[in-house]
Amino acid sequence: MTTTGNNLDRVLVLEMVRVTEAAAVAAAKLIGRGDEKAADAAAVEAMRAAFNDLYMDGTVVIGEGERDEAPMLYIGEKVGGAPGKGPKIDIALDPLEGTTITAKAGPNALAVLAIAEEGCLLNAPDVYMDKLAVGPGYSPDIVNFDKSVRENVEAVAREKGCAASDIIVCVLDRPRHEALIAELRAIGCGVALIPDGDVAGVIATTNPETNIDIYMGSGGAPEGVLAAAALRCVGGQFKGRLIFRNDAERARARKWGIEDLDRIYDLGDLAKGDVIFAATGVTDGSLLRGVKHRRGGILTTESVVMRASSGTVRWVKGEHRIG
Ligand code: FBP
Repeated sequence: MTTTGNNLDRVLVLEMVRVTEAAAVAAAKLIGRGDEKAADAAAVEAMRAAFNDLYMDGTVVIGEGERDEAPMLYIGEKVGGAPGKGPKIDIALDPLEGTTITAKAGPNALAVLAIAEEGCLLNAPDVYMDKLAVGPGYSPDIVNFDKSVRENVEAVAREKGCAASDIIVCVLDRPRHEALIAELRAIGCGVALIPDGDVAGVIATTNPETNIDIYMGSGGAPEGVLAAAALRCVGGQFKGRLIFRNDAERARARKWGIEDLDRIYDLGDLAKGDVIFAATGVTDGSLLRGVKHRRGGILTTESVVMRASSGTVRWVKGEHRIG
């Protein structure tokens, strides 16, 4: 398997679905079991094994944490079955995006990853990121951090051709978002509060079926890179700004080569080049149905895989016989 020109080998597109399917199936055994760690560990182990079956020289750039925090799929870990020989691929992954959701059998847990050629994915530190996202079809920079919440909402409403109070904004349900939620409610917006899982929340802006127009608020920076990778493939806009709560977090960012701590990141700053994004549903959600255990020892999965260079989006339904 080789890379062609600046593009990732197209065979990798479908291979990535195998990887997210493996993680989702493993995590699904722990849906509703109240054990976040076990669910995460199962997904991590399965994803790592699936990567190691592939002819690639992969490096985890966004993973389960730093080497001393995570035994597997830590940042910098080499994965893939062809170290030093296969195509050099950078990987951003979250084997289980929504550990608490899975433990509680809530909606929107995903196994998710993005791959790109070496150096194309931001090495985002594990800090919070302020996020602003809209789906495709709007003027460039329609939402940005220079505008107030009201101005962002009004700009989107103007282009959508509706009142600001018709706009629906997705926000993580967190005490830190109290002021934001109050401001949105004062405008009259609908606020779709999600308990966890902002990768799915950001991607929801690209799907008119969800009714979600804008994503706002802070969540994990690594999840920001994953969401940006998806939007690179399907269109839409994303702005991200890292949030540092203390010097240790600033040091963490510098360690990963981030000099300008106030930088505002656009889609292409977070995920550039020929990015492939893949996700498999663990529990049912706005993007994908979750893993289902059917009669006769069959598991079904639903996945999506997208590629930035072609803009192709493939929806993949899997049936897995578990013997
Ligand atoms: P986990 O799957 O690691 O639990 O992350 C879930 C999540 O909700 C992300 O989607 C989001 O970016 C982040 O946690 C928000 O962090 P916090 O729970 O600290 O607000």
